[in-house]
Amino acid sequence: MAKKLFNIAWEEFSALPLVEKTPYLMQPDGSPYHTLFAQQFDSVLLDKLAALANEIRAIAKTRIGAEYLRQQVTHKRAMLYFSQPSSRTFLSFVSACQILGVPVGEVRDTSISSEFKGESREDSVRTFSSYFDLIIMRTPEKGLAEHMAWVISNSDRPIPIINAGSGKDQHPTQALLDIYTLLRSFDRGGGLHDKTVVFCGDLLRGRTVRSLSYLLTNYPRIRQIFVAPDPLQIDTDVLDILREKGVEFVQTDNFRSVIPEADAVYMTRMQDEWDNYKNESAAIDTSHFKFGLEELALLPPRAIIMHPLPRRDEIAVAIDDDPRAMYWRQMRNGMWIRTALIAMTFGCERRIHDYYCHNN
Ligand code: NCD
Repeated sequence: MAKKLFNIAWEEFSALPLVEKTPYLMQPDGSPYHTLFAQQFDSVLLDKLAALANEIRAIAKTRIGAEYLRQQVTHKRAMLYFSQPSSRTFLSFVSACQILGVPVGEVRDTSISSEFKGESREDSVRTFSSYFDLIIMRTPEKGLAEHMAWVISNSDRPIPIINAGSGKDQHPTQALLDIYTLLRSFDRGGGLHDKTVVFCGDLLRGRTVRSLSYLLTNYPRIRQIFVAPDPLQIDTDVLDILREKGVEFVQTDNFRSVIPEADAVYMTRMQDEWDNYKNESAAIDTSHFKFGLEELALLPPRAIIMHPLPRRDEIAVAIDDDPRAMYWRQMRNGMWIRTALIAMTFGCERRIHDYYCHNN
């Protein structure tokens, strides 16, 4: 893994459009060094990651294969710095590290770290980089992972940073697992193109939708339908990107009317932790933005239902056993694609590929 320095002032870097930031974040072979936002990934890289994840999960099926994987990155340590709640992202990253033999450390509660004593986040992250070789971070603040990547890259111990969710803005590795799930689901149905993806729920504050909507623009003729109550509709910056890229999209509050057109329905929960004043979300009627048995009856037979999870009541438990319910498999796909991402970040995809070719 080559060292990566940012020869650019923070003010200048932060003002760049995301696509112009991308070259600073990638390794010379096109693999990600820092993973900060969805805009870093094109379809070539996405397909490479998905193929690597498939190889890793095939290798991991045997004890000998799993042991081989566990020897790959034993010389690196990872730090999980999660100052926001998490179950799946945290545990799937821990598991991904374990699959590759990467020992992990964690800070999940900043009230028991030195941040509580007034240490700046810059100093905290530099501290982590003294002990670890990768930082996987989740924060409520937009842009913090990016700033930390810049700080670390210009320090005497540059190490990669993976954004595991930043505010309401981005969740690039969730989008990777969502794309991986779509690729696997449509593999036999001709691939990820000419499909209609319906997003439903709190689209304004759901970062997973923002990242996935962008990643989908890498695939030809993917129509995007945004279903939400008016106050929670997708933000205009996402729509501007879709317009710029010539992607067909629709906004509606009539969920049932669009379900028959869907190849994938992507449900999200109310993100009321972002309410500005007390309980404003509670005043919004979300009763028509839930997926139950009546909605299931409208869903085409080959379509899939996705959810980044956690769910509240926006998908009825009665749906879980339907073969189109993909969210539990989607969650497990997250562990494999995150393993592939870490393997690529540390440059061991070739060794894994060779092992796969010789043994599978
Ligand atoms: C999502 C998140 O944190 O943005 N959770 C996850 O990582 N699977 C979705 C959510 O919390 O609603």
